[in-house]
Amino acid sequence: MKTRTLGSLQVPAIGFGAMVLSPGVYGEIDDTRAEAALKSALDAGGTHVDTSDAYGPNGHNERLVGRAIKGRRDEVVVATKFGLAIPEGEPSRSHPVGYAFGELRVNAEPRLVRRYAEGSLRNLGTDVIDLYYAHYPDPGVPIEETVGALADLVRDGLIRHIGLSNVTAAQLRAAHAVHPVTAVQNEWSMWRPVDADLLAAARELHVGIVAWSPLGNGFLTGTVSALGEDDFRHNAPRFSAANLAGNNDRYAPIKALAAQLGITPAQLALAWLLHQDEHVVTIPGSRTPSHIEENLAAADLTLHSDTLARIDEALSRFEVSGGTLL
Ligand SMILES: NC(=O)c1ccc[n+]([C@@H]2O[C@H](COP(=O)([O-])OP(=O)(O)OC[C@H]3O[C@@H](n4cnc5c(N)ncnc54)[C@H](OP(=O)(O)O)[C@@H]3O)[C@@H](O)[C@H]2O)c1
Repeated sequence: MKTRTLGSLQVPAIGFGAMVLSPGVYGEIDDTRAEAALKSALDAGGTHVDTSDAYGPNGHNERLVGRAIKGRRDEVVVATKFGLAIPEGEPSRSHPVGYAFGELRVNAEPRLVRRYAEGSLRNLGTDVIDLYYAHYPDPGVPIEETVGALADLVRDGLIRHIGLSNVTAAQLRAAHAVHPVTAVQNEWSMWRPVDADLLAAARELHVGIVAWSPLGNGFLTGTVSALGEDDFRHNAPRFSAANLAGNNDRYAPIKALAAQLGITPAQLALAWLLHQDEHVVTIPGSRTPSHIEENLAAADLTLHSDTLARIDEALSRFEVSGGTLL
């Protein structure tokens, strides 16, 4: 697997996003299937594993990852996040999101950061987190204060690198002035452009970018025509019955381009991302070993400049229905 650098951290160009492995995200899943998926990702070189204390109930996702890395901890870059799984009785602030439920509740107060990290270390069964992100900025707390608490964890050896997720360029600059930030993790895919100011700031500060939902929550694989029960995408306007069919129709030229190239739409979506910047990496999620192998193989694809121009042209005509707020 080709590697890339996020700040001073080396990771595979394509890693594995573990969120899909907890129930209630993309529908039903049991731990046996989840553990098999994680094992196939690690065996195939997707050894940058991204989780969060908020995926699944009571650290479910982190505990799955902890079982998977047991005995092979040194092979894996473990990334996790804090700030959404708020301890009972603690206050929280609203961060608006584009899903039907409208907001997430966040608490990234510095006084809680060590407690969050100690919980994640327990769930993961490890003594150090390689990359530890504030999951969302807390509207009630200056980001410099959250990062100050993270810097203490680096000093004390609980975490190796600091990450920020879902931030603006200004927030990244303010945080980086307190302690070097290794990576920002924001949504970026063929149907979600990254913020140009954030990309420019990351390049200038030598901060890597981890693109979340690089397959557009599965849409960009070209295989989603209906949603099952217990699928969180029922909250996403782009997947409503009214919007999904039209979005699929307008995506057809990009699917056709992938077919011409002899690759799958998922592989084209991932390879396209890797061609946007040498310090971008992706973390697609899947419960299915054959999909995982297909996705990881996209790290070896080289897209010709003519192909990239054709993709950009097709994307400029791909009008997505269903909102722009993340
Ligand atoms: N920082 C944040 O706020 C944030 C937010 C969201 C996500 N994330 C991170 O990003 C990771 C990935 O995001 P995501 O899971 O939302 O979306 P994604 O990776 O864009 O898409 C996942 C979906 O695509 C399907 N899929 C994957 N590969 C496929 C293939 N080759 N062919 C057909 N279908 C395929 C999966 O279904 P199958 O299981 O059937 O393959 C699943 O339904 C998460 O695990 C998480 O680590 C971070």
